[in-house]
Amino acid sequence: MKTLIVSSSLSPESRSFILCKEVYNRLSVKGIEVKMIDARDMDLRPCHTKISESMTELDNEVDHADNIIIGMGVHCYSINDGLKIILDNCFGKATGKFFGIICAAGGERSYLSTQHLTQICMNEWRMIQLPRIIYATGKDFEENKVNNKDLLERLDVFSEEFNTIGKKLIS
Ligand SMILES: Cc1cc2nc3c(=O)[nH]c(=O)nc-3n(C[C@H](O)[C@H](O)[C@H](O)COP(=O)(O)O)c2cc1C
Repeated sequence: MKTLIVSSSLSPESRSFILCKEVYNRLSVKGIEVKMIDARDMDLRPCHTKISESMTELDNEVDHADNIIIGMGVHCYSINDGLKIILDNCFGKATGKFFGIICAAGGERSYLSTQHLTQICMNEWRMIQLPRIIYATGKDFEENKVNNKDLLERLDVFSEEFNTIGKKLIS
């Protein structure tokens, strides 16, 4: 199984990146072929401008992945700007793929913001979502590390379920 993790936040202190890395480590230990792309290393350009080399590379990675985990930060009760560019320009070959969502937010009341990502992935590419989301806020972190035991357990369960269901969906 080839899993692609796309960490889409452009923040230098990205918390969703930390969560993506936690899941990356858990999937790697299970022997899964997992690749992580950090949007901060990419040259992201908006729609209707010339697509960059790193965006073409991500387009290819999406094509070759069996399933995809998307890391997002909440911006104005929706997805972050970097993710919108990635979806609009690099997800054309994601059709029908299984996916999971990892989300960092400022507060506890923005959890429905991930629904925008669900809508885009399901309506645009008929993707199938793991019915479990990792959602964390600033309170769950200390010195750039997860400091909440419950969240660490949820990261374990998310990784386990993504692995189990992901494998079953590969024909
Ligand atoms: C432009 C902007 C808008 C934001 N809007 C929200 C919001 O609507 N709800 C919320 O809970 N947090 C909001 N936040 C806080 C971020 O979700 C929070 O900083 C989170 O850690 C971002 O993920 P990241 O650290 O991976 O970039 C916003 C932050 C920015 C920069």
